[in-house]
Amino acid sequence: MKVIRPYQPLLLRFVHGLTTLFLILAMITAYWTYDVYDGRWGQIPLPKFEEIEGIHGTFGLWTLLIFPTLVFYAFHQGRKRLIQRNTLANLTHISQKGWSYHLHRVINTLMLISLTFAVFTGKMMDEKWLPNGELNHVWYLGHLLSWVIMFISLAFHLLVSAKVGGLPFLFSMFNWFYTPQDSPLRWANNLKSYGQNVNFSWVKLWWRRTFWIKWLELLVWVSLVAAWILAMVKEA
Ligand code: HEM
Ligand code: HEM
Repeated sequence: MKVIRPYQPLLLRFVHGLTTLFLILAMITAYWTYDVYDGRWGQIPLPKFEEIEGIHGTFGLWTLLIFPTLVFYAFHQGRKRLIQRNTLANLTHISQKGWSYHLHRVINTLMLISLTFAVFTGKMMDEKWLPNGELNHVWYLGHLLSWVIMFISLAFHLLVSAKVGGLPFLFSMFNWFYTPQDSPLRWANNLKSYGQNVNFSWVKLWWRRTFWIKWLELLVWVSLVAAWILAMVKEA
């Protein structure tokens, strides 16, 4: 019997992998920062390493910098793996075959929303708050909450992906194998011809789409741009 190996486009694996790597490093260092400066909701005795705040800021920033590539990919090339028009209706038929595929699409979409919230609230943080013992700023509490939301979303993302295709499916997102058509040597050309299609009529076509997910995409882009602008205004 021929075994069918799940295959993911290399570009998706690349942007998804880097986002995952930086996010996990940001989440570990975030917990450590919380442990050093706060600890109101529980603590484990980690070393009191105060530089961890700056290290977290760096991993957070790297996540924020790579994330837009995954957002663009997911809402365009990969949009079939996000919520579809019929997804929510299908979710009500739990016993139906393929139910977990629909749930998977909802969780993929949730991942994008959760990470947008985490990086947005991160950009609103002030590095002096925690060393000064100012632990009740609304943005800090929001940023703490974003960690919990991200943790829960990631746990569901892993569980539902495992349910959809087991370990081979999970690993298909992180291996190095690629087909000749998917070779990085072709990326420059592929991106160039894709870029040539992204013009005013492409935007008009996108705008005319009736499915509400375009509003979600717009919200994500507006939040990412606003995060940078507001952070600059705050500093000025
Ligand atoms: C260890 C961590 C992770 C694993 C094992 C994993 C696994 C997967 C798998 C198996 C898929 C499905 C591909 C398909 O439907 O064929 C997927 C898609 C997706 N994942 Fe993850 N993921 C991880 C972390 C993340 C993180 C941190 C994000 C952050 C936003 C994320 C966002 C997404 C999105 C948006 C999609 C849909 C992509 C598309 O539209 O093409 N994942 N992931
Ligand atoms: C999903 C989890 C998290 C992500 C993705 C994340 C991401 C970010 C981002 C993008 C920044 C802005 C970095 C910059 O502009 O230079 C940031 C800053 C910050 N975050 Fe987080 N963060 C997370 C959780 C947390 C948690 C739980 C804490 C609790 C202590 C925390 C504490 C901070 C602090 C103190 C800053 C300001 C540090 C600085 O700018 O040097 N973060 N975070």
